[in-house]
Amino acid sequence: MGNFINTEICLKCKNCFEICPCHIFGINTNNEIYFIPEREHICVKCGQCMAICSSSAVKIESLSYEKDFTEMPENIVDFDKFNNFISTRRSIRNFKNKEISKDVINKILSSIHYAPYGSSPEKMNITVVNNRKIIESSLPLIADFLDNIVKWVDSPFMSFMIKRKKGIETFNTIKNHLYPISKAGNYKLKFGDRITRNAPAIIIIHADKGAEEHTHNALIYATYIMLSAHSLGLGATVIGLVPAAINKVKEVREIYKIPEENEAVISVIIGYPKYKFKRIIKRNLQKIDWIE
Ligand SMILES: Cc1cc2nc3c(=O)[nH]c(=O)nc-3n(C[C@H](O)[C@H](O)[C@H](O)COP(=O)(O)O)c2cc1C
Repeated sequence: MGNFINTEICLKCKNCFEICPCHIFGINTNNEIYFIPEREHICVKCGQCMAICSSSAVKIESLSYEKDFTEMPENIVDFDKFNNFISTRRSIRNFKNKEISKDVINKILSSIHYAPYGSSPEKMNITVVNNRKIIESSLPLIADFLDNIVKWVDSPFMSFMIKRKKGIETFNTIKNHLYPISKAGNYKLKFGDRITRNAPAIIIIHADKGAEEHTHNALIYATYIMLSAHSLGLGATVIGLVPAAINKVKEVREIYKIPEENEAVISVIIGYPKYKFKRIIKRNLQKIDWIE
Protein backbone atom coordinates (compact mmCIF):
# COMPACT_ATOMS: atom_id res chain seq x y z
CA MET A 1 0.00 0.00 0.00
CA GLY A 2 1.13 3.56 -0.60
CA ASN A 3 0.21 4.78 2.86
CA PHE A 4 3.16 6.51 4.46
CA ILE A 5 4.34 8.06 7.73
CA ASN A 6 7.20 10.53 7.56
CA THR A 7 8.95 9.57 10.80
CA GLU A 8 11.39 12.48 10.38
CA ILE A 9 8.64 15.01 11.02
CA CYS A 10 6.21 12.89 13.08
CA LEU A 11 5.82 14.44 16.56
CA LYS A 12 4.88 11.05 18.05
CA CYS A 13 1.77 12.55 19.63
CA LYS A 14 -0.08 9.30 18.71
CA ASN A 15 -3.28 11.18 17.91
CA CYS A 16 -3.65 9.27 14.63
CA PHE A 17 -3.22 6.00 16.49
CA GLU A 18 -5.91 7.01 19.01
CA ILE A 19 -8.55 8.30 16.60
CA CYS A 20 -8.36 5.86 13.69
CA PRO A 21 -11.76 4.11 13.49
CA CYS A 22 -10.18 1.05 11.88
CA HIS A 23 -7.12 0.81 14.17
CA ILE A 24 -4.67 0.55 11.29
CA PHE A 25 -1.80 2.22 13.19
CA GLY A 26 0.73 0.52 15.42
CA ILE A 27 3.56 1.83 17.63
CA ASN A 28 6.95 0.13 17.38
CA THR A 29 9.60 -0.28 20.07
CA ASN A 30 11.18 3.05 19.03
CA ASN A 31 7.85 4.73 19.83
CA GLU A 32 7.31 5.31 16.11
CA ILE A 33 3.90 5.11 14.46
CA TYR A 34 3.53 2.71 11.54
CA PHE A 35 0.73 1.31 9.41
CA ILE A 36 -0.06 -2.29 10.38
CA PRO A 37 0.28 -4.03 6.99
CA GLU A 38 -2.36 -6.65 7.64
CA ARG A 39 -4.93 -4.00 8.69
CA GLU A 40 -4.31 -1.35 6.02
CA HIS A 41 -6.90 -2.82 3.67
CA ILE A 42 -9.72 -2.11 6.13
CA CYS A 43 -8.98 1.65 6.06
CA VAL A 44 -12.23 3.50 5.17
CA LYS A 45 -10.24 6.52 3.94
CA CYS A 46 -12.12 8.87 6.25
CA GLY A 47 -9.02 11.10 6.45
CA GLN A 48 -9.26 11.68 10.20
CA CYS A 49 -5.59 10.72 10.75
CA MET A 50 -4.46 13.37 8.27
CA ALA A 51 -6.93 15.92 9.63
CA ILE A 52 -5.55 15.55 13.16
CA CYS A 53 -1.82 15.42 12.34
CA SER A 54 -0.08 18.70 13.35
CA SER A 55 2.99 18.02 11.25
CA SER A 56 1.32 16.52 8.16
CA ALA A 57 3.41 13.40 8.68
CA VAL A 58 0.64 10.88 7.95
CA LYS A 59 -0.27 10.21 4.35
CA ILE A 60 -3.08 7.97 3.16
CA GLU A 61 -2.35 6.96 -0.43
CA SER A 62 -5.57 8.17 -1.99
CA LEU A 63 -5.76 11.44 -0.03
CA SER A 64 -3.80 14.63 -0.48
CA TYR A 65 -3.25 17.44 2.05
CA GLU A 66 -3.61 19.98 -0.74
CA LYS A 67 -6.73 18.62 -2.39
CA ASP A 68 -8.77 16.94 0.31
CA PHE A 69 -8.27 19.16 3.36
CA THR A 70 -8.79 22.80 4.27
CA GLU A 71 -7.74 24.84 7.31
CA MET A 72 -9.89 24.77 10.44
CA PRO A 73 -12.04 27.93 10.67
CA GLU A 74 -11.83 30.07 13.81
CA ASN A 75 -15.48 30.80 14.53
CA ILE A 76 -17.36 27.53 14.58
CA VAL A 77 -21.02 28.09 15.61
CA ASP A 78 -21.97 27.92 19.26
CA PHE A 79 -25.07 26.15 20.56
CA ASP A 80 -27.36 29.20 20.42
CA LYS A 81 -26.50 29.97 16.81
CA PHE A 82 -26.81 26.31 15.87
CA ASN A 83 -30.17 26.06 17.62
CA ASN A 84 -31.44 29.22 15.93
CA PHE A 85 -30.34 27.82 12.62
CA ILE A 86 -31.89 24.36 12.83
CA SER A 87 -35.06 25.53 14.58
CA THR A 88 -35.79 28.08 11.86
CA ARG A 89 -35.58 25.54 9.05
CA ARG A 90 -38.98 24.62 7.66
CA SER A 91 -40.10 22.31 4.90
CA ILE A 92 -40.88 24.79 2.13
CA ARG A 93 -43.67 23.94 -0.28
CA ASN A 94 -44.38 27.35 -1.80
CA PHE A 95 -41.75 28.85 -4.03
CA LYS A 96 -41.18 32.09 -5.88
CA ASN A 97 -41.14 31.75 -9.63
CA LYS A 98 -37.38 32.18 -9.65
CA GLU A 99 -34.72 29.93 -11.11
CA ILE A 100 -31.74 28.79 -9.07
CA SER A 101 -28.27 29.31 -10.49
CA LYS A 102 -25.93 26.38 -10.94
CA ASP A 103 -23.45 28.10 -8.60
CA VAL A 104 -25.99 28.18 -5.80
CA ILE A 105 -26.91 24.52 -6.30
CA ASN A 106 -23.23 23.58 -6.31
CA LYS A 107 -22.81 25.50 -3.06
CA ILE A 108 -25.74 23.59 -1.53
CA LEU A 109 -24.27 20.29 -2.69
CA SER A 110 -20.84 21.16 -1.33
CA SER A 111 -22.17 20.54 2.20
CA ILE A 112 -22.15 16.82 1.38
CA HIS A 113 -18.34 16.93 1.43
CA TYR A 114 -18.65 17.11 5.20
CA ALA A 115 -21.35 14.50 5.83
CA PRO A 116 -20.71 11.31 7.74
CA TYR A 117 -21.15 8.14 5.71
CA GLY A 118 -21.71 4.49 6.54
CA SER A 119 -19.63 3.00 3.78
CA SER A 120 -18.72 3.44 0.15
CA PRO A 121 -19.73 7.09 -0.39
CA GLU A 122 -18.24 6.82 -3.87
CA LYS A 123 -21.19 4.62 -4.82
CA MET A 124 -23.70 7.37 -4.04
CA ASN A 125 -25.24 9.19 -6.98
CA ILE A 126 -26.90 12.57 -7.06
CA THR A 127 -28.99 13.82 -9.96
CA VAL A 128 -29.81 17.51 -10.05
CA VAL A 129 -32.85 18.38 -12.15
CA ASN A 130 -32.73 22.14 -12.49
CA ASN A 131 -35.43 22.34 -15.12
CA ARG A 132 -39.07 22.88 -14.23
CA LYS A 133 -40.34 21.63 -17.60
CA ILE A 134 -38.67 18.24 -17.07
CA ILE A 135 -40.09 18.01 -13.54
CA GLU A 136 -43.55 18.85 -14.91
CA SER A 137 -43.33 16.14 -17.54
CA SER A 138 -43.06 13.54 -14.76
CA LEU A 139 -46.07 14.74 -12.77
CA PRO A 140 -48.91 12.98 -14.67
CA LEU A 141 -47.01 9.69 -14.35
CA ILE A 142 -46.38 10.21 -10.63
CA ALA A 143 -50.02 11.20 -10.07
CA ASP A 144 -51.13 7.97 -11.81
CA PHE A 145 -48.72 5.98 -9.65
CA LEU A 146 -50.25 7.55 -6.54
CA ASP A 147 -53.74 6.69 -7.78
CA ASN A 148 -52.61 3.10 -8.25
CA ILE A 149 -51.52 2.96 -4.62
CA VAL A 150 -55.18 3.16 -3.62
CA LYS A 151 -56.02 0.20 -5.86
CA TRP A 152 -53.07 -1.81 -4.53
CA VAL A 153 -53.92 -1.29 -0.88
CA ASP A 154 -57.57 -2.13 -1.60
CA SER A 155 -56.44 -5.45 -3.09
CA PRO A 156 -55.53 -8.06 -0.44
CA PHE A 157 -53.22 -9.82 -2.92
CA MET A 158 -51.29 -6.64 -3.82
CA SER A 159 -51.11 -5.65 -0.15
CA PHE A 160 -49.61 -9.04 0.62
CA MET A 161 -47.07 -8.66 -2.20
CA ILE A 162 -46.02 -5.14 -1.16
CA LYS A 163 -45.55 -6.32 2.41
CA ARG A 164 -43.52 -9.28 1.25
CA LYS A 165 -41.38 -7.48 -1.35
CA LYS A 166 -40.93 -4.09 0.30
CA GLY A 167 -41.21 -4.94 3.99
CA ILE A 168 -43.54 -3.85 6.73
CA GLU A 169 -42.11 -0.31 7.11
CA THR A 170 -42.81 0.58 3.48
CA PHE A 171 -46.18 -1.15 3.59
CA ASN A 172 -47.25 0.78 6.69
CA THR A 173 -46.03 4.05 5.15
CA ILE A 174 -48.15 3.34 2.10
CA LYS A 175 -51.21 2.08 3.97
CA ASN A 176 -51.30 4.49 6.89
CA HIS A 177 -49.83 7.61 5.30
CA LEU A 178 -50.07 7.62 1.50
CA TYR A 179 -53.29 5.65 1.06
CA PRO A 180 -55.64 8.04 2.89
CA ILE A 181 -54.02 11.07 1.24
CA SER A 182 -54.19 9.56 -2.24
CA LYS A 183 -57.71 8.26 -1.67
CA ALA A 184 -58.81 11.81 -0.82
CA GLY A 185 -57.63 12.72 -4.34
CA ASN A 186 -54.97 15.00 -2.87
CA TYR A 187 -52.37 14.49 -5.58
CA LYS A 188 -54.69 14.94 -8.56
CA LEU A 189 -53.12 17.48 -10.87
CA LYS A 190 -56.36 19.46 -11.15
CA PHE A 191 -55.42 20.82 -7.70
CA GLY A 192 -51.99 21.88 -8.95
CA ASP A 193 -48.63 20.31 -8.24
CA ARG A 194 -48.84 18.79 -4.76
CA ILE A 195 -45.98 16.42 -5.56
CA THR A 196 -43.04 18.69 -6.33
CA ARG A 197 -44.85 21.88 -5.27
CA ASN A 198 -43.88 23.94 -8.32
CA ALA A 199 -40.24 23.80 -7.19
CA PRO A 200 -37.77 24.99 -9.82
CA ALA A 201 -35.36 22.16 -9.01
CA ILE A 202 -35.23 18.71 -7.48
CA ILE A 203 -32.22 16.79 -6.25
CA ILE A 204 -32.53 13.00 -6.41
CA ILE A 205 -30.25 10.78 -4.36
CA HIS A 206 -29.79 7.26 -5.66
CA ALA A 207 -27.33 4.39 -5.68
CA ASP A 208 -26.85 0.86 -6.89
CA LYS A 209 -29.43 -1.31 -5.12
CA GLY A 210 -26.69 -3.29 -3.43
CA ALA A 211 -24.46 -0.36 -2.45
CA GLU A 212 -23.39 -0.52 1.17
CA GLU A 213 -25.42 1.68 3.57
CA HIS A 214 -26.80 3.72 0.67
CA THR A 215 -30.22 4.26 2.25
CA HIS A 216 -28.74 5.77 5.38
CA ASN A 217 -26.16 7.79 3.46
CA ALA A 218 -28.87 9.20 1.20
CA LEU A 219 -30.98 10.42 4.11
CA ILE A 220 -28.01 12.09 5.73
CA TYR A 221 -27.08 13.74 2.42
CA ALA A 222 -30.67 14.97 2.03
CA THR A 223 -30.51 16.48 5.50
CA TYR A 224 -27.28 18.29 4.70
CA ILE A 225 -28.78 19.56 1.44
CA MET A 226 -31.83 20.88 3.25
CA LEU A 227 -29.82 22.63 5.94
CA SER A 228 -27.39 24.02 3.42
CA ALA A 229 -30.26 25.44 1.35
CA HIS A 230 -31.64 27.06 4.51
CA SER A 231 -28.29 28.70 5.24
CA LEU A 232 -28.38 30.30 1.78
CA GLY A 233 -31.92 31.64 2.18
CA LEU A 234 -33.46 28.95 0.02
CA GLY A 235 -36.17 26.55 1.06
CA ALA A 236 -36.26 22.79 0.67
CA THR A 237 -38.45 19.79 1.40
CA VAL A 238 -37.57 16.13 1.48
CA ILE A 239 -39.83 14.35 -1.00
CA GLY A 240 -40.38 10.62 -0.72
CA LEU A 241 -43.01 10.41 -3.46
CA VAL A 242 -40.69 11.05 -6.39
CA PRO A 243 -38.14 8.30 -5.63
CA ALA A 244 -41.00 5.87 -4.94
CA ALA A 245 -42.40 6.62 -8.41
CA ILE A 246 -38.94 6.40 -10.01
CA ASN A 247 -38.46 2.92 -8.55
CA LYS A 248 -41.83 1.71 -9.73
CA VAL A 249 -42.55 3.51 -13.01
CA LYS A 250 -40.10 3.02 -15.89
CA GLU A 251 -41.09 6.24 -17.67
CA VAL A 252 -40.43 8.34 -14.55
CA ARG A 253 -37.02 6.68 -14.19
CA GLU A 254 -36.31 7.56 -17.81
CA ILE A 255 -37.35 11.20 -17.42
CA TYR A 256 -34.93 11.59 -14.50
CA LYS A 257 -32.26 9.45 -16.20
CA ILE A 258 -31.79 7.22 -13.17
CA PRO A 259 -29.78 4.12 -14.18
CA GLU A 260 -31.75 0.86 -14.26
CA GLU A 261 -29.58 -0.77 -11.59
CA ASN A 262 -29.99 2.13 -9.17
CA GLU A 263 -32.53 2.59 -6.44
CA ALA A 264 -33.78 6.13 -5.85
CA VAL A 265 -33.78 6.64 -2.10
CA ILE A 266 -34.90 10.19 -1.49
CA SER A 267 -35.26 13.54 -3.19
CA VAL A 268 -35.21 17.16 -2.10
CA ILE A 269 -37.06 19.99 -3.81
CA ILE A 270 -35.40 23.39 -3.56
CA GLY A 271 -36.30 26.95 -4.44
CA TYR A 272 -36.69 30.45 -3.09
CA PRO A 273 -39.42 30.55 -0.41
CA LYS A 274 -42.53 32.54 -1.19
CA TYR A 275 -43.57 33.04 2.44
CA LYS A 276 -41.71 33.72 5.65
CA PHE A 277 -42.57 31.77 8.79
CA LYS A 278 -43.21 33.93 11.86
CA ARG A 279 -42.52 31.40 14.55
CA ILE A 280 -40.63 28.23 15.32
CA ILE A 281 -42.51 24.95 15.68
CA LYS A 282 -41.35 22.84 18.59
CA ARG A 283 -42.48 19.24 18.35
CA ASN A 284 -42.12 16.11 20.38
CA LEU A 285 -40.72 13.92 17.67
CA GLN A 286 -39.39 11.12 19.76
CA LYS A 287 -39.68 9.11 22.90
CA ILE A 288 -36.46 9.31 24.86
CA ASP A 289 -35.51 6.49 27.18
CA TRP A 290 -32.66 7.12 29.57
CA ILE A 291 -30.46 4.38 30.90
CA GLU A 292 -28.14 5.78 33.57
C1 LIG B 1 -38.37 10.58 4.72
C2 LIG B 1 -39.21 11.81 4.49
C3 LIG B 1 -40.08 11.85 3.40
C4 LIG B 1 -40.87 12.99 3.17
N1 LIG B 1 -41.68 13.03 2.07
C5 LIG B 1 -42.42 14.13 1.83
C6 LIG B 1 -43.23 14.22 0.65
O1 LIG B 1 -43.25 13.31 -0.19
N2 LIG B 1 -43.96 15.35 0.46
C7 LIG B 1 -43.95 16.39 1.35
O2 LIG B 1 -44.64 17.38 1.13
N3 LIG B 1 -43.17 16.34 2.47
C8 LIG B 1 -42.41 15.25 2.73
N4 LIG B 1 -41.58 15.20 3.84
C9 LIG B 1 -41.48 16.40 4.69
C10 LIG B 1 -42.21 16.25 6.00
O3 LIG B 1 -43.56 16.05 5.77
C11 LIG B 1 -41.90 17.48 6.87
O4 LIG B 1 -40.63 17.34 7.40
C12 LIG B 1 -42.95 17.66 7.96
O5 LIG B 1 -44.10 18.19 7.36
C13 LIG B 1 -42.48 18.57 9.08
O6 LIG B 1 -42.29 19.89 8.64
P1 LIG B 1 -40.93 20.68 8.87
O7 LIG B 1 -39.90 19.99 8.03
O8 LIG B 1 -41.22 22.09 8.47
O9 LIG B 1 -40.56 20.58 10.32
C14 LIG B 1 -40.79 14.09 4.07
C15 LIG B 1 -39.89 14.04 5.15
C16 LIG B 1 -39.11 12.93 5.34
C17 LIG B 1 -38.14 12.93 6.49
